[in-house]
Amino acid sequence: MFLWGTATAAYQIEGAAGEDGRGPSVWDTFAHEPGRVRDGHTGDVACDHYHRWPEDVALMAGLGVNAYRFSISWPRVLPTGAGEVNRRGLDFYDRLTDALLAEGVQPVPTLFHWDLPQALEERGGWMDRDVSALFAEYAATVAARLADRVPLWITLNEPFVHMAFGYAMGVHAPGRVLMTGALPAAHHQLLGHGLAVQALRAAGARQVALTNNCTPVWPASTREQDVAAAGAYDILHNRLFNDPVLLGAYPDLSAYTGSLEFVRDGDLKTISAPLDALGINYYNPTRIAAPTGPPTDTGLPFADAGITGYPTTAFGWPVVPDGLRELLTGLKSRYGAALPPILITENGCSQPDEPTERGTIEDEARVDFLDRHIAAMRQAMAEGVDVRGYFVWSLLDNFEWAEGYHQRFGLVHVDFATGRRTPKRSYRWFKGFLEGQNTDT
Ligand code: FCB
Repeated sequence: MFLWGTATAAYQIEGAAGEDGRGPSVWDTFAHEPGRVRDGHTGDVACDHYHRWPEDVALMAGLGVNAYRFSISWPRVLPTGAGEVNRRGLDFYDRLTDALLAEGVQPVPTLFHWDLPQALEERGGWMDRDVSALFAEYAATVAARLADRVPLWITLNEPFVHMAFGYAMGVHAPGRVLMTGALPAAHHQLLGHGLAVQALRAAGARQVALTNNCTPVWPASTREQDVAAAGAYDILHNRLFNDPVLLGAYPDLSAYTGSLEFVRDGDLKTISAPLDALGINYYNPTRIAAPTGPPTDTGLPFADAGITGYPTTAFGWPVVPDGLRELLTGLKSRYGAALPPILITENGCSQPDEPTERGTIEDEARVDFLDRHIAAMRQAMAEGVDVRGYFVWSLLDNFEWAEGYHQRFGLVHVDFATGRRTPKRSYRWFKGFLEGQNTDT
């Protein structure tokens, strides 16, 4: 069965930050620090999904999706990251799982979508190797409760973005500015992934995947320096997170570090345990040039050259549907038989989405975006890439990290003052699209 779904993440939709025993996460701390998130927005209430989840499940049933990718909040299950389990947290995901199954919607949980328990940040966060093993213990705890009903699990969401934005540049929680010193946070996430794969399988999980954010990298010109810079960026964004998992080896990281002393014997074997699928989140390609002028204070071997000549989303991201085909066929030629089946675990766009006078949201640009990206995915499938699912980011407008509530990605509009949900035109379009699908293809 081809999975057609929508995706969300716990901190972006749940709210109920202090309820039923949930502990604080790094995102609670970060969002409450002045100047971190646009207009001081926080996820304290978000879409109030923690209370309104029956309505949200009904919206998915009405849409006709057969799968739902959501994330589990680690600090809701383990308020201090380890040790004492908060039963009420697990109960929430248990109820959600049953409600989804009752509607014929397969639950696809992601265990880590960036909301690390604050107590673990205080011991170093993902810079601390021990957090990898604690992640696997948390995975085992959740799977012990849900693996009888949940066939497919995702360990991490976008370890690249979490390392780059959270630990290198500090624009996401936990807000550290370590630049290339953030590399251990990549390795420890990957090690946590590998250990969680073992824990999940031991607890009866049938299928396990990892979700990476990947981007086709375009050199700004055919000049040798730009081509080399693009290669260096490709290593950091894509290969650093795919090679160890699929090939059991890191790419050449010499442009970023002189030593991989944080990698220990046996780690790569753990990290490269076979997977049932690779989750890919695609938003846009990236165009890269060699750094110019005097050495920049970033010390990085590349510069973002920007992409022009394409329409852009409200976020300013270029809309390049063929980039998805290029990405998928590129993965296939790079990894060959080592590439597991692919799930597109996120794809979507932010749009202004102002309600009309009649209160409807006529998001034609999102309809066009989804239509063209699905076509690009199918083109890649026709070219031989084994894709098994596609999840729209997102079911609901939600807390878009450093942008707060300013970027709306939902098929369903959310009035954040009242929590009121209004399906957009794109919701009706996707529903019609799904009605026309044979779910086997
Ligand atoms: C991805 C994140 C997701 C959402 C989209 C727009 O990088 O995984 O939570 O913010 O971008």
